[in-house]
Amino acid sequence: MAPANAVGVSYGEPMARLIILCGLPGSGKTTIGRRIADATGAVRMCVDEWMTSMGVTLWDEALRARLERAQWSETQTLLLAGTDVVIEWGTWARSERDALHGWCRDHEVQVSLVHLEVPMDELRRRLTARNAQPGETEIPLDDVAAWAAGPWQPPTADEIDRYDPYELPPPRWISRPWRADDIPFLWDVLYLSIHVREGHEPLPREVLDDHALAHYLRDFGRHPGDDAQVVVDETGERIAAAYCRRMRADDPGWGFVREDVPELGMAVVEAHRGKGIGRRVLVDLLERNPAMSLSVDDENDVARRLYESLGFELLHRDGTAFTMIRTAHSDR
Ligand SMILES: CC(C)(COP(=O)(O)OP(=O)(O)OC[C@H]1O[C@@H](n2cnc3c(N)ncnc32)[C@H](O)[C@@H]1OP(=O)(O)O)[C@@H](O)C(=O)NCCC(=O)NCCS
Repeated sequence: MAPANAVGVSYGEPMARLIILCGLPGSGKTTIGRRIADATGAVRMCVDEWMTSMGVTLWDEALRARLERAQWSETQTLLLAGTDVVIEWGTWARSERDALHGWCRDHEVQVSLVHLEVPMDELRRRLTARNAQPGETEIPLDDVAAWAAGPWQPPTADEIDRYDPYELPPPRWISRPWRADDIPFLWDVLYLSIHVREGHEPLPREVLDDHALAHYLRDFGRHPGDDAQVVVDETGERIAAAYCRRMRADDPGWGFVREDVPELGMAVVEAHRGKGIGRRVLVDLLERNPAMSLSVDDENDVARRLYESLGFELLHRDGTAFTMIRTAHSDR
């Protein structure tokens, strides 16, 4: 329901929603705020971004308070006009959140609270990485621990129950051609792609030094035909890749078929498997390299079915490994 006009007539537009993102620095407020804005068209209110674009220090608390007031005023106008808004201020104090909640309830605006609960170890990991980025304001890790123990009042289950339920849009990721700075990640992918057979321990990472593995990636980009596709998540973190290289007959890979058919390797970081990312990255690499071969363990049903569904066919079996090939004319 929209706010009523002076004579009590409601226009029936959908009710706007305020989404409050609540969490400590490093909890992902900006990432989630951008995700919501992209998916729904909501307007983001992020004081840190305004301060950064103004070239002022993020530690100027008086200015921060003034900007929050300005953003809140703008938020009210937008909500009353029917536009959804995401607030990314952190809203550490219960009283601060209650004030926003109360205003929304008084003005027939939906209000949802998203508590970004991240364990302290993970916050430290993210902030250490962020602090190392050029141009980022350093947030001392000790300060975060002090905030967590002091001013930060995480919402209780009872508090969250007072808000309108809200389901976050699913995370976004993008698939793009590889760049030189992806090469260390391609080595991670090579390691992840080593199938660990049932009942066996994973091999140590040093196994990548063996020529039988290293020749898939050594000097990647310098051999004609080297190509890769990489998937990054909404924070820019790499989460999957597929790469291919034309191997030589006198130095073949396990899935070698012919010198003009590149051999494929791929993997998705474990936490992101089963969400369509492996299919996407492979389809994109196949666009540029429609003919490829590969070797897949006979236990690796998920990978084998994915390959078959994209036109790879079984060529032969060698012990526990299948060699598969896809020709340029295979159907998808
Ligand atoms: C194999 C791998 C790359 C697939 O990537 P993924 O992102 O998990 O797969 P997708 O989500 O794109 O799904 C691909 C297909 O496999 C199916 N699938 C995915 N996970 C599955 C699971 N756990 N069980 C059964 N089927 C599964 C999906 O249903 C999908 O089929 P559909 O598109 O017809 O629905 C990934 O699981 C992986 O990295 N595995 C470890 C490394 C590896 O084995 N690399 C290949 C070496 S040859």
